[in-house]
Amino acid sequence: MVNYVDAATAPLKNDGSIRLYDAAGFDKMRQVCQITARCLDSLYDLIQPGVTTAEIDRHVLQFGLDNGVVPATLGYRGYKYSSCTSINHVVCHGMPNDKPLRDGDIVNVDVTYILDGWHGDSSRMYAVGQLKRAAERLLEVTYESLLRGIAAVKPGARTGAIGEAIQSYAESERCSVVRDFCGHGVGRLFHDTPNILHYGRTNDGPVLKEGMIFTIEPMLNIGKPHVKVLNDGWTAVTRDRSLSAQYEHTVGVTKDGCEVFTLSPGGHDRPGLKPRP
Ligand code: MF3
Ligand code: CO
Ligand code: CO
Repeated sequence: MVNYVDAATAPLKNDGSIRLYDAAGFDKMRQVCQITARCLDSLYDLIQPGVTTAEIDRHVLQFGLDNGVVPATLGYRGYKYSSCTSINHVVCHGMPNDKPLRDGDIVNVDVTYILDGWHGDSSRMYAVGQLKRAAERLLEVTYESLLRGIAAVKPGARTGAIGEAIQSYAESERCSVVRDFCGHGVGRLFHDTPNILHYGRTNDGPVLKEGMIFTIEPMLNIGKPHVKVLNDGWTAVTRDRSLSAQYEHTVGVTKDGCEVFTLSPGGHDRPGLKPRP
């Protein structure tokens, strides 16, 4: 049941039932996504050998409360944490725990905050101490694949153009693309239409329109693309236990391309390496 207030403020839907947001919606997304990005910026100092992912999670919760937002994952489908923390061969949805991070680990921290009902979803990789070359390379390729996916976004293109840009680049760099998880519409809902696949063909999927808002969040593996979910019901790992990496941005389709709402205000989006002083 939609009441009059909801009807008046509900985002427009096009025939494909994908919500379109107006300038006011873009403004709210800018606000919440910049809080998410500032939180991710604040993690570079915290993440080092010996720190636990539970400590990272507490920082994400406190940062949110200090900035007037709440983590969307807290209580989401029974998930009990403020972030996902995915280490090494964990592909996504790793649950924070009390095990200390170790030198050479790579860890993805995925944060979604809610501000006045608007969701800002982003994740980055963090290097724990000194990485091996193979891990560093995986981070670089994964980040570049996200940038190529973003570059494919414009009105008139299909979602498949994003997938093809990511997959063709990732595979040319001898990395594989995880198929089991995808990007998603986001805004007033955490997970909305359309699905944004990180593989596929340019002519697949719905046509992008100005006003759509969604995430792009490719997961790339050094080995095979196959994943399995552990008995905890959340933690997704590579079946061959090869390293996996992921970066995620929330973007809005504009007149001639897209706006990346979750860009680092400190210019710290680059792969996992500590910002230069
Ligand atoms: N933030 C994740 C995403 O990018 C979703 C996490 S849902 C959770 O879509 F329940 F696992 F936290
Ligand atoms: Co997401
Ligand atoms: Co996310």
